[in-house]
Amino acid sequence: MSLYITRRLPDAALRNIPADLTWRMWPEAGVPIPRAELLGAAADATALVTLVSERVDADLLAAAPALRVVANMAVGVDNIDLAACRARGVLVTNTPDVLTETTADLAWALLLAAARRVVEGQKLIEAGGWGAWHPLFMTGQDVHSATLGVIGAGRIGGAVLRRGAGFGMRLVYHNRRRSPELEAATGAAYRSLNELMAESDHIVVCAPLTAETRGLIGARELALMKPTAVFVNVARGPVVDEDALVAALRVGRPWAAGLDVFVREPIAPDHPLLGLPNVVATPHVGSASVQTRVAMARLAVDNALAVLRGDGPLTPVG
Ligand code: GLV
Repeated sequence: MSLYITRRLPDAALRNIPADLTWRMWPEAGVPIPRAELLGAAADATALVTLVSERVDADLLAAAPALRVVANMAVGVDNIDLAACRARGVLVTNTPDVLTETTADLAWALLLAAARRVVEGQKLIEAGGWGAWHPLFMTGQDVHSATLGVIGAGRIGGAVLRRGAGFGMRLVYHNRRRSPELEAATGAAYRSLNELMAESDHIVVCAPLTAETRGLIGARELALMKPTAVFVNVARGPVVDEDALVAALRVGRPWAAGLDVFVREPIAPDHPLLGLPNVVATPHVGSASVQTRVAMARLAVDNALAVLRGDGPLTPVG
């Protein structure tokens, strides 16, 4: 039995690896393992710990005949061909729960920053553009007391909604399925996607990337938004038609966007989105607090170890 970890993880995540287990780890924290190297490393792996940057597809699975589990250090598993894993009897695990609150915090950071022009304000100061005070200088949009719409109301969406209650907001959500539990816990009301787009003062996308959600929000949906609305995406870039979003932001509908995820990551520094003054962008850091990243790494490793021991996975997908 052997474990391969595709990125250097913090030591705290490796503590539970038994002394008698054969294991290896790609030594770089900041450089992804080259594909050819990964295919070679997978050849004798019974367990792989992967990051979102690694594509786990039929080719990789074919190169890993002994593989029993892919333990992804992320809650999203869109980098993994789940059907191919299922067909080969390979278990897939993710890291839910441990990142919920941290990711909801980032969604709120983006919402507040975009609504209140925080980054634009800093750039203006740095450029020496802070002149005389005037009544409508750097005015943004209120977040408190507004209507917050969350698309994809799983764990993270629920945590975003709960924070909205503290800001005195009206809460609405859209999800594949209605969730009576979420409605009871947060007081949020269910809306169709179109209703939510039109009714919300601010929108946060938290839906996982699946065949159903790819391109869910396109030009037609964006055009339904209020011209004062802030649009936040902390899910996955391809849930939104990025070209349509650029076009919509150029005409100020939505008014601004806070984006942590993009169709291609890392996003090119000259991407049109980044040239827009009404965009606040972060480099896919939803779960990136020290505490949470260590917890995610540990959970991913523990999932792999649990399967190797013959116990059930701690947090299986599906
Ligand atoms: C990060 O994006 C994750 O899915 O955990």
